[in-house]
Amino acid sequence: MGARAHDLSRCNTDHRRPRSPVLAILKIARLGHPVLRRRAEPVADPAAPEIARLLADMAETLADAGGIGLAAPQVHVPLRLFLWRDGDAGLRTLINPELEPEGAASEPAWEGCLSIPGLRGLVERPAAVRFRGFDGTGATVAGVARGLAARVLQHEQDHLDGIVYPMRMTDLSLLGFEQELSRHPATAQEG
Ligand code: NI
Repeated sequence: MGARAHDLSRCNTDHRRPRSPVLAILKIARLGHPVLRRRAEPVADPAAPEIARLLADMAETLADAGGIGLAAPQVHVPLRLFLWRDGDAGLRTLINPELEPEGAASEPAWEGCLSIPGLRGLVERPAAVRFRGFDGTGATVAGVARGLAARVLQHEQDHLDGIVYPMRMTDLSLLGFEQELSRHPATAQEG
C-alpha cells in the first residue's frame, strides 16, 4: 500500500490562507538584570515591521503572564515602548511616550511587576497624567489617564528610565509577598 494522498477535505489546516505569523512568548527580565536599570532608546520608526513583530510578541507574553502592562526592557529590548490593558479599550500601545502629571493630586496604591514576581508594594503617584506618543501604525496617541490607567502608564514609563516601583516607595515596610499581604493586610491605605 502506498502512502495516501493528502486529503484536503479531511485536513484541519486551511490551505488557502497564508500562514499567520508565529507568535513567541518572550522571556521576562527579572529584577537584577541590567536591562531593567538602563535608560531605553527612542524608537526610530514606530511603524517598522520589526516593531510590529515585537509588539505582537509582547502582547502574547503579557497574555501568558497575566499582567496589565509590559514595557520592552522587561523582555530584554531597550526601546521606549510599552503595552497596557486599558479597561474596556483593551490592549493599547504607547511608543516614545511622554508623560506629565495632570493636577497636583497623588494617591497611594499597591503595585506589582512581572519582573518582581510575587511581591507587592504601596506606591504614591500622581492620580492623573497627560500622555502622548505613537501607536504601532505611527499615529499620534494622546490623552489623559486617571486611576488605574494613570498608575499603569507611570509604572511602565518608569521601566523605560530604568526605574522599578520599589525605587518609588517611601516606606519599604510596605513591600512584601502578595501571599503574606493578603493574609496579613498592611495597615496603610490601600488604593
Ligand atoms: Ni513592571
